[in-house]
Amino acid sequence: MNKVRWGLLSTANINRLVIPAIRASTRGELVAVASRSLEKARQYAEKWSIPHAFGSYQEMLDSGKVDAVYISLPNHLHAEWSIRALQAGVHVLCEKPFALSLEEVDAMIAASRASGRVLAEAFMYRYHPQTKIVGEWVRSGRLGEIILTRGIFTFKIMQRDDVRLIPEYGGGCLWDVGVYPLSYAQYVFGGPPQAVFGRQWVGDSGVDEDFTGLLWYPGGGMAQIASSFRSPLHTHFEIIGTEGRLILNRPFIGMQDGRRLEFYPAEGEPQEIPVPEQELYLGEVEDMHAAILDGATPYLSLEETRNHVRTALALYQSAKQGQAIDLETFSK
Ligand SMILES: NC(=O)c1ccc[n+]([C@@H]2O[C@H](COP(=O)([O-])OP(=O)(O)OC[C@H]3O[C@@H](n4cnc5c(N)ncnc54)[C@H](OP(=O)(O)O)[C@@H]3O)[C@@H](O)[C@H]2O)c1
Repeated sequence: MNKVRWGLLSTANINRLVIPAIRASTRGELVAVASRSLEKARQYAEKWSIPHAFGSYQEMLDSGKVDAVYISLPNHLHAEWSIRALQAGVHVLCEKPFALSLEEVDAMIAASRASGRVLAEAFMYRYHPQTKIVGEWVRSGRLGEIILTRGIFTFKIMQRDDVRLIPEYGGGCLWDVGVYPLSYAQYVFGGPPQAVFGRQWVGDSGVDEDFTGLLWYPGGGMAQIASSFRSPLHTHFEIIGTEGRLILNRPFIGMQDGRRLEFYPAEGEPQEIPVPEQELYLGEVEDMHAAILDGATPYLSLEETRNHVRTALALYQSAKQGQAIDLETFSK
């Protein structure tokens, strides 16, 4: 095998950004799409020039036509279909949030191990050069000791029938966009927090439509995160260290067209750090190719992914109980 044959597991809206990435990659090709409706799959395949259309997800998994699937289902279906794909011998790139409980995450990891197939979380911003540059700055010590990270991701939900507003589907703004600053903070501090405090505003939908959290890390660092479904699109992330701070105006999306990071050193003039242009979704696709074709270790580990879910669960529990949650005692 010298090319990975991809299938799209659903006709989700987000696919439109991942399809160009698969096509821009040198070692992948998009060969199939599956939908709950054959008619929908056929129309989608025609629109996007995809060779094969399937009227059920399982049919595509069992067809022998795909080596890997991109899972872009509503959140409550991520675990079930990742496991079914892995059991069918198909590699999986699964959207964030990876799953909605640690039992689900552990079952997914077990299915990956049992099948020997690759399983990875599609947190696209983590694979972009901008994020890798930030990691290098943090690890090089140029920012000194990291005291605080602050991250925001908000957007306005326009349709009240959006799946993000359905509690049983894993709706809620922390699961949907709060996980971006949550995971970025974990990346900066090199691991999960030791304790968290969360506060939410639950709308008539029954899900959190605003969520803010405070996270403490071993060694004393802290993170503030905020997310909302009720305010226009806004993303921001900053890292505050004893030797200066980095400002990212496009930390999670929109940085693919050659943005600049701003560095404000403790002494001296502010600097702009150039960021190479790269298609935002290309990194996650190419990382899958390296893992599948070369046996490379995936860039985003399943341990990191598990901690994203674990921290979000602890924040939800904190918001429910109105008190801080110690992650050590919460769940391993
Ligand atoms: N990384 C990113 O940049 C990014 C951005 C947006 C969303 N996401 C993630 O991607 C996933 C999909 O988000 P989206 O906004 O693209 O979703 P969406 O447009 O609502 O699509 C979800 C798809 O899931 C399938 N589906 C299966 N069961 C369903 C059910 N009971 N109700 C509704 N749809 C069902 C449908 O496909 P068929 O009808 O064809 O079966 C539907 O098109 C979510 O997990 C989200 O968090 C990631």
